[in-house]
Amino acid sequence: MAEITGLRGEKVRLVPPDKGQHLENAIRWMNDPEVVQYLLLTTGVTRGLEEEWFERIQKRDSEFVWAIVDEHRRHIGFTGIHRINWRLRSGGTGTVIGEKDVWRKGYGSDAMRVRTKFAFETLGLHRLESEARSDNVGSQRALEKAGYKREGIARKKFLWEGRWHDTVLYGILDEDYFGESRS
Ligand SMILES: CC(C)(COP(=O)(O)OP(=O)(O)OC[C@H]1O[C@@H](n2cnc3c(N)ncnc32)[C@H](O)[C@@H]1OP(=O)(O)O)[C@@H](O)C(=O)NCCC(=O)NCCS
Repeated sequence: MAEITGLRGEKVRLVPPDKGQHLENAIRWMNDPEVVQYLLLTTGVTRGLEEEWFERIQKRDSEFVWAIVDEHRRHIGFTGIHRINWRLRSGGTGTVIGEKDVWRKGYGSDAMRVRTKFAFETLGLHRLESEARSDNVGSQRALEKAGYKREGIARKKFLWEGRWHDTVLYGILDEDYFGESRS
């Protein structure tokens, strides 16, 4: 099989999701409470649901999803741009590093930077946004490290284990990425 280069970052590569290579990890990660605690997945994910997700993301024109692989080609997570609005040139973004032994090693923020480059340089988008539960420090730090700006708070938006949690909205614009001079 031909090797897929994907999009390169400093540490990661973003490659198209492939059932044969990435499905088993997706099922394992999406059923790990520590990984999904901030993602509002409370009931677990079946093989059938995960297979459907793989089918769907291949076909959609309004989203791009990639598997994240590290410098040794180990599959460590997923990242994506979702709900792209081509008229407003905006999209929502999300990242999961499923292998917990590589948390806080720079992979998440590197994947976000690669995704941002693709969004602005290849897709010509104008704005990306992401939302993190207010106690998800890792997500917020990674977004900030990748150049996103904190834009505001949505009060009591997520219900988790009987408690409402605020969420923090983050955004990055093409002008942030290219520099004010080009906008
Ligand atoms: C959130 C997540 C994507 C971050 O990816 P990561 O590879 O661990 O993050 P990075 O190593 O790139 O971290 C970037 C910065 O955040 C810091 N950071 C990451 N996780 C942290 C945590 N839990 N607490 C404090 N700081 C944290 C890192 O130390 C780093 O800062 P530094 O460069 O100043 O040291 C990853 O931990 C993850 O997938 N978690 C589970 C799912 C999730 O919460 N996804 C986001 C939903 S909104």
